[in-house]
Amino acid sequence: EKGGYDYFMLKEIAEQPKAVADTLLGRIDAAGSLTLDEVRIPVSVLREVDKVVIVACGTAYHAGMIAKLAIEHWTRIPCETELASEFRYRDPILDRRTLVIAISQSGETMDTLMALRHAREQGAKVLAICNTNGSTIPRESDAVLYTHAGPEVAVASTKAFLTQLVACYLVALYLGQVRGTKWGDEIRAVIRDLASIAQDVDQVLETMEPVRELARSLAGKNTVLFLGRHVGYPVALEGALKLKELAYMHAEGFAAGELKHGPIALIEPDLPVVVVVPSPRGRSVLHDKIVSNIQEIRARGARTIVIAEVGDEAVVPYADHLIRIPATPTLLQPLVATVPLQVFACELATARGNEVDQPRNLAKSVTVE
Ligand code: M6R
Repeated sequence: EKGGYDYFMLKEIAEQPKAVADTLLGRIDAAGSLTLDEVRIPVSVLREVDKVVIVACGTAYHAGMIAKLAIEHWTRIPCETELASEFRYRDPILDRRTLVIAISQSGETMDTLMALRHAREQGAKVLAICNTNGSTIPRESDAVLYTHAGPEVAVASTKAFLTQLVACYLVALYLGQVRGTKWGDEIRAVIRDLASIAQDVDQVLETMEPVRELARSLAGKNTVLFLGRHVGYPVALEGALKLKELAYMHAEGFAAGELKHGPIALIEPDLPVVVVVPSPRGRSVLHDKIVSNIQEIRARGARTIVIAEVGDEAVVPYADHLIRIPATPTLLQPLVATVPLQVFACELATARGNEVDQPRNLAKSVTVE
């Protein structure tokens, strides 16, 4: 049942292009419009939404952090993303015009379930993004958009994460569509790129051998840091989470701009630091800022592992290891940038002799609060 792979995780990483394509299937029509008929929340209600709140845990929370950027940029509706386990304990401000999005692969995560129950009690509408048909979270929500990743067996979430991102982009674009916000050339281009993004994920998978080699060479290290800005920041957090849960290594993700506010003190000679670089096209300020961050850490001896778009030459002089990803619109970049980090963590775990599919102390679905 592992389809010839040593681990479910490897199989699930390889299934990502299909999972992404399946999650898009039938949801974008030939004219580039979104048809999310399954979202049973009436369009009249969606037009009135004045705030979006996303609740989720772990990897799904990282998808939610990226969704916040997409929703705010494409729809101009204020959006916040919160860890489900923190959400209801701060007495959040919610009402009938709040759309709460609960993201969960399993649909059984107790923290997320309790957060959505609390939201519904306050009168908010809840949309679930879920991978498991008929599970508790979609059953208790007003509507559900299913991700079509297929069963995910490995404890470490991979293909579910990519499909959660796809579902989040679809919801963000759909909200923009029904409200008529910013519906111009930029959005049309994003929809076109999204429709063909599975091929880009496939392309990344074909170039992973150097990443595996690099991972094996780092098996004796104690710490790996991850840096990113904007959408690259949640990707950095996701890379660090994968490494913690699989390789049992100290791994931390930082917003690159925060380096100078403390974490830069951690940099010492030969410390591996993975940097997720945003596209030099589009918002180039972001790109320039991160290039100087790479320079700063390298000047202090860090071993830089740089994930950057094909054709981005500015990073070359500062990259000890360069991992290339295809060019995508900025907001879609996590779909390609996360894949090398999954492969990296899986290979490091294997090199350290860890059980990849069943990491110690963890369960696939966390049904206690
Ligand atoms: O089933 P869920 O998506 O609600 O699970 C949430 C987290 O428990 C989950 O993403 C966890 O962080 C993964 N093991 C990460 O790889």
